[in-house]
Amino acid sequence: MKTIQAHRAGAPSELRLRDAPVPEPGPGEVLVRVRAAGVNPPDWYARAGYPMIPPEVRPALDFFPFTPGSDVSGTVAGLGPGVTAWAEGDEVFGLLRFPTSTGSARGYSEYVTAPVTDLARKPASLDHDHAAAVPMAGLTAYQYVVDLVKIEPGSTVLVNGAAGGVGHLLVQLARHLGARVIAVASTRHEDFLRGLGADEYVDYTTTAVADAAHDVDYLFDTVGGPHGYRLTPALRAGGTLSPVFFGDYHDAELAARDIRTAGGQVHSDGRQLGELAELFDSGALRVHLDSAYPLAEAWRAHERGEGGHLGGKIILRVAGAEPAR
Ligand SMILES: NC(=O)c1ccc[n+]([C@@H]2O[C@H](COP(=O)([O-])OP(=O)(O)OC[C@H]3O[C@@H](n4cnc5c(N)ncnc54)[C@H](OP(=O)(O)O)[C@@H]3O)[C@@H](O)[C@H]2O)c1
Repeated sequence: MKTIQAHRAGAPSELRLRDAPVPEPGPGEVLVRVRAAGVNPPDWYARAGYPMIPPEVRPALDFFPFTPGSDVSGTVAGLGPGVTAWAEGDEVFGLLRFPTSTGSARGYSEYVTAPVTDLARKPASLDHDHAAAVPMAGLTAYQYVVDLVKIEPGSTVLVNGAAGGVGHLLVQLARHLGARVIAVASTRHEDFLRGLGADEYVDYTTTAVADAAHDVDYLFDTVGGPHGYRLTPALRAGGTLSPVFFGDYHDAELAARDIRTAGGQVHSDGRQLGELAELFDSGALRVHLDSAYPLAEAWRAHERGEGGHLGGKIILRVAGAEPAR
């Protein structure tokens, strides 16, 4: 089969198309013929050697040669011992083996093995390209609003980084739960976010968020970084801050205003992914593709991701991969 590998940490050009044996599913696993793979920030963080992760929590770079890819959509092509839940030909999607060791999922490949507990039936309303865009971003948004924060109907939610993979799904989930949603993004994304149902839009390139938004009950920040604290005056006293990435929020100021912090790490969960699938099939959620590339051009997908300012998700089309460039 064809697969993508980087033999050392470095630039996107380290990602090369290679030949590899088709893997064998173990007990409790199926073999998936990948039709499309989602591209996520952890893929390019790992390929680059995690320069953006604080040194005290930076993982060891012991996973090269590295095949990125934890999000896949495809068809079941073989069953491991003891598997009865799926049959060959079933259409499935999943966030695979996350957050276990980096590179253990290998989704940028024509075939991967997948624990059955990480899979759900692909939403009938989504093709493989769109289904592959869902698992990590969708489960992050879902686990934040279902497991970490209980959004009350009628509350005000602010989503920073609203146009990105996680953000554009958080906007829709918060709306679905009955919240009034303020979306923060750059100029080019206003129409996109209003089309997703955002009640208000703040262009952070022209307006300070704290000048435009007040009395926010729940603030989801998918951007983080050293200036995270500039957002928090928008929260009401007693509100909830949900950082999705590392950020500096000036903890003493949060404590003084009785602001709770609720954040965590997304994890694989086939059952929750099945619940998300129903939200797509019911029309409550839509997933938007920023861009799509053939498997052999995974390096271009990483260049696009690292270029930033995504509107939705990047995916790789895998089936029928072209030879190496
Ligand atoms: N906690 C977890 O388990 C978990 C799970 C998934 C992802 N993450 C992390 O969450 C972050 C977002 O992931 P993602 O997949 O959504 O990334 P993404 O698709 O790259 O989206 C990031 C978005 O942020 C916007 N943005 C950039 N700078 C901004 C700023 N200063 N203010 C407001 N918006 C800004 C970008 O577009 P515009 O600037 O053009 O609006 C873009 O739409 C990543 O760091 C990722 O590693 C964490």
